Amino acid sequence: MQIFGVDIGGSGIKGAPVDLDRGDLAQERFKVLTPHPATPDGVADGVRQVVEHHGWTGPVGLTFPGVVTDGSHIRTAANVDKSWIDTDARALFSERLGGLPVTVVNDADAAGVAEMNFGAGRGRRGTVILLTFGTGIGSALFVDGVLVPNTELGHVELHGHDAEKRASSKAKEDEDLTWEHWAHRVQKYLAHVEMLFSPELFIVGGGVSRKSEKFLHYIEGIQAEIVPAQLQNNAGIVGAAMRAAKA
Ligand code: BGC
Repeated sequence: MQIFGVDIGGSGIKGAPVDLDRGDLAQERFKVLTPHPATPDGVADGVRQVVEHHGWTGPVGLTFPGVVTDGSHIRTAANVDKSWIDTDARALFSERLGGLPVTVVNDADAAGVAEMNFGAGRGRRGTVILLTFGTGIGSALFVDGVLVPNTELGHVELHGHDAEKRASSKAKEDEDLTWEHWAHRVQKYLAHVEMLFSPELFIVGGGVSRKSEKFLHYIEGIQAEIVPAQLQNNAGIVGAAMRAAKA
């Protein structure tokens, strides 16, 4: 079975039909740049271009980088235009896609669902936390494989700051931090999250998961196992399609 997955990110909107049995893209993904400001209207137009490129006419799952409830209601928008807050995203996207059935999920929750089924978290019980390091920090918390949605652990307070402002990969770029310096911040962040949840496993996702050999070895003193995500850039697309399949 196939469902179309779309990942709405800070820099790009990318999507492809997903083969749900294999947990992988069924066709090459297509990407358009995220408009700035990333308003509902502009983003919906980008989504339309991606879906139309593939000529898709079935159900669509989309990620969103904020709190999403009921597969539709946007509650926060830390790194996109604030006019998203209280948007009925299902209605917006469905209308723009000519009435196709649509489900919307938090981006990190989507990536986590994909990793738990087809990647680094496969078969793992107990408490597992996936963290995505990108423009912000996203989180997905699983207990015995079941997702606790919208955990937003990127916004815990760390030394008086919103954690993602210190430890996201955007913070690394903006402040031109070395891998070692940034890893030190990530270590403090992981220690804080570990104190709260005592997970068995941390899965490190987002763009940096491709470069884990540059920083994971600097991280010490964390009891949980720490592994890089395996699906990397496609985890959001795959997870969004998986959530839509269950809607
Ligand atoms: C948002 C989360 C999102 C994360 C990664 C955070 O700023 O609050 O909802 O998952 O960024 O995009």
